Amino acid sequence: MHSLPTPLPPALTEAIVRAGGRLGFDAFMALALYAPGWGYYSGGRRKFGTLPQSGSDFVTAPELSPHFGRALAAQVAQALQATACAQVWEFGAGSGALARQLIAQLDQMGAGPDRYVIVELSAELRARQQETLSDLASRVQWVDALPERLEAVVLGNELLDAMPVHLLLRKAGQWHERGVVLQGDRLAWDDQPTQLRPPIEPPGTGDYLTELHLQAQAWVRSLADRLQRGAVFLIDYGFPEAEYYHPQRHMGTLMCHQAHRADADPLQQVGEKDITSHLDFTAIALAGQDAGLQVLGYTSQAHFLLNCGLLEGMADAPLQERVMLQKLIHEHEMGELFKVIGFAANTPTCPYDGWQAIGFNAGDRSHTL
Ligand SMILES: C[S@@+](CC[C@H](N)C(=O)[O-])C[C@H]1O[C@@H](n2cnc3c(N)ncnc32)[C@H](O)[C@@H]1O
Repeated sequence: MHSLPTPLPPALTEAIVRAGGRLGFDAFMALALYAPGWGYYSGGRRKFGTLPQSGSDFVTAPELSPHFGRALAAQVAQALQATACAQVWEFGAGSGALARQLIAQLDQMGAGPDRYVIVELSAELRARQQETLSDLASRVQWVDALPERLEAVVLGNELLDAMPVHLLLRKAGQWHERGVVLQGDRLAWDDQPTQLRPPIEPPGTGDYLTELHLQAQAWVRSLADRLQRGAVFLIDYGFPEAEYYHPQRHMGTLMCHQAHRADADPLQQVGEKDITSHLDFTAIALAGQDAGLQVLGYTSQAHFLLNCGLLEGMADAPLQERVMLQKLIHEHEMGELFKVIGFAANTPTCPYDGWQAIGFNAGDRSHTL
């Protein structure tokens, strides 16, 4: 059954015309997700949840189980202590579920932060977070951007995958950048030769579609420039570059989500579905390292959460809770596809002193980056 195509948001049509008739995919994705009023994350869709009946589109780890935040709290508590920081900064806090889980658990551990600061791009989500966390208003604060100097433990769960990517297409042996043009009242692809290249050339000469995460890398660099003291933990789906730019991954990883169904066509139903891509964790690690951060570790979500004590005391938990825990760590669910990368600040005022992050105690895969 074919559904009728939804009309394009007028502001998108105007933006394409204003740009001379063509938007690079990164600019298109930025609008489709974040344009005020109609972008996917700026609009009123429920977005996160476990079931399509709730009107949600996809589920994230903190929505699946509060034990995700409880386990992460063990890592955050250690990092706060090791770096002598008193603030947690969360970027892209979604519904606010992770913030609630973390603050509750950190308080219980006697490690509650003085301030929990949220940086959220979407005004709609910020309003939702303020409502969810209203009882914690004295400690939770929202800010629009990074300060010049930051001393904190910084977190981002599924943050970088929601940042716009460049799309690159190798066609007849030549690299092109994908852009978006108008074709009547619809959108179409437009590929132009480019100097941009993936960090490694995928072997062979066959057609190959892939992504570059320049915005995510720039975000890591600007965080690194400002982080005087503290640590960073980023959780997301992705692979090291050798796996990312593998000959078999010739269709790329760009994906859309709506009502818990995935599709690969971001040019349809613009603003009504999520657009995301997997991460090249090698590029993220290099961006941090080149900007002065120390890589603390890189591992699967399963290893990380188990190292943080996810299953401790859970043997007698109700079945439903244990089922959700399994989803977080099972290799065919989130356990293997999702990875965690950790960084420590390493500055003249606060040189990295060699502390080992507990989340990477067993199963560190930094050598694969
Ligand atoms: C896929 S959602 C994940 C939400 C939440 N962390 C979770 O796990 O449920 C991505 C979130 O990142 C936010 N976001 C994207 N880019 C951002 C940026 N540069 N700064 C702050 N938030 C951003 C989005 O608005 C959204 O809240």
